[in-house]
Order: sequence, then structure tokens, then C-alpha cells
Amino acid sequence: MKELPQKYAVIGWPVEHSVSPQMHNAAFKACGINAEYERIPTPPERLSETVEKLRREGYSGWNATVPHKENILPLLDNLDSKAELAGSVNTVIASEGQLIGFSTDGYGLEKALYEAFQTNIKDSSLVFIGAGGATRATAVHFAFQGVKRLTIINRTLEKAQKLCDLINSSVNHPVATPYPIDTPDEWQADILSADVIIQGTSMGLKLTDPLPLPEEMLEKDMCIYDMIYKKTPLLQKAKEKNCRIADGRGMLLHQGAGSFELWTGRKAPVEEMRKTLDELLKSA
Ligand code: ATR
Repeated sequence: MKELPQKYAVIGWPVEHSVSPQMHNAAFKACGINAEYERIPTPPERLSETVEKLRREGYSGWNATVPHKENILPLLDNLDSKAELAGSVNTVIASEGQLIGFSTDGYGLEKALYEAFQTNIKDSSLVFIGAGGATRATAVHFAFQGVKRLTIINRTLEKAQKLCDLINSSVNHPVATPYPIDTPDEWQADILSADVIIQGTSMGLKLTDPLPLPEEMLEKDMCIYDMIYKKTPLLQKAKEKNCRIADGRGMLLHQGAGSFELWTGRKAPVEEMRKTLDELLKSA
């Protein structure tokens, strides 16, 4: 008798735009794994009910995306320590009815920065613009990877301060410093000496959005990474100024590869997954 495929999914709201199903189905196919990955639109008020349904129906694992990465934590049975500290889960493994939460976002960004700029996180100086969920999940990972300096610039200073406190209390010596975004004079020196500047706000989703930092700060050969996976106004301007640039698709790819490896225990077919993503996002 033919075996039923293992079931995987992404839960989010909205989730129609997610390219994870195509990326993971391509990966399963390339590895000859009998599995199917689907989108499950999940409004916030139905998160708990959906998690129980996935557990009951024997899903092997799933991804959680916006707006569930934080709220899913209390619904799980176990958490990886870094995901617990960051308060963010994007990958769930369901094993014998037990749900375990992980975050592969930091791993994904680490790989993406290496591919784009050959950055080794250990001993590097990084600037994050934004202190929301995307920054929290990745900056905590970098702190554990031995980053030398983290500068976190945010519109709401208290949020950056809280994140820096969390990071500094979990590593041996303080590495993170918060700044308010509206006082560029205070953080310009950190920008100029950074190995990479990482854009982690939602500014840039719309082509009419303002730049998150003054245009004059962009200098030739600076490395600018935008977690948004299209050519944002920041990336366009940075390119004009001969900066080195990369958009968020590398992070999307490698966080997916990280999830795949957690679920299957096998090496992810990264090039197959990249090909699928590039095809889907070629007009982004
Ligand atoms: P995500 O989970 O995608 O990171 P989020 O947690 O809502 O989303 O965070 C959005 C980030 O974009 C925050 O850092 C937010 O700044 P605040 O913490 O001050 O809200 C930032 N952001 C959004 N719109 C912005 C704007 N117009 N100017 C500056 N920062 C903005």
C-alpha cells in the first residue's frame, strides 16, 4: 500500500503571498521525500485552535510566520533555548505529539550575510535599523555567535533598549547599544565602522517609503542588507552610491533550509530551493 505523505505547513495571516510551499515542496521532491507542504491562513484569534488541529492531524512540522512568531510560544511543549530567549519561533517540529519550537531566522541571516558579503559573524560589528520581531530573532542569535558589536537603532528607543538589555544580560560582556533613530549624529560613527548595516524595519515595503537613514551616510563599499526581499528604496539608493547590497531572499532561503534540516535530519538541497525562489521572486 502506498504510504500517505508527511504533512508540513506554514501558518500566518495573511499567508497567501508566502513562497515557502513551493520552496519546501521543491526540496522534498529533490530529496525523494514523500511529503506535502501547504499554506494554512490563520487569523490571530484562531492560532491556538489551528495549532491543536495540526497536532491532532499528525502534521510532522510547520513554519510560523507573521503575526504568530511570538504568540505561538506558550502553545508549544518545548522550546530551543535561543528561541525561548528571543521569544520567537518560526519552526515547529511535531514528534510523538510533542511540539518543539525553534527559530532559524538568525541562522538564515547569518548564512545570507556570508554569501552576500563573506561576513563572519564572530568578531564583526553590525548595525540593525529596527528593533521589531525580525531584529530580535536574529540579533539574539548573533550575540550567541560571538558578534563583537551590535548597534540597534529604533524609532521607539525603549524597544531597542529592552532588546539590548536582553542581549547584554545573556552574553559574557555587553555587546549591544541602543540609539533613537531621530538622532543620527549619535550613531553615525557606528554606521561608518560597521561590517554590515541590516535594515529590519517595515520601511521599504512601499516604494514611496522614506529611507531609514540619511542618504549622505551611504558610502562606497558599505555592506547594506535589507531583510525585505525586494529592491527597496534603501537598496536602490545604496546601489547608486556603489555600496554592496543584498535583499532578504538569501535569508528567506536559508531560514527555510534550516527548517528543512530540523524536520528531516538531512542536508537541505539549497540550490534547488534557491532556483525555485529566484523563479518565483524574479519580478520582486
Ligand atoms: P517585524 O516583526 O517585521 O520586525 P514589527 O515587530 O512590527 O515587525 O517591527 C517593525 C519595525 O519597523 C520596528 O522597529 C518599528 O519601529 P517601532 O519599534 O518604533 O515601532 C519599525 N518601523 C515601522 N514603521 C516605521 C517608520 N515609519 N519609521 C521608523 N521605524 C518604523
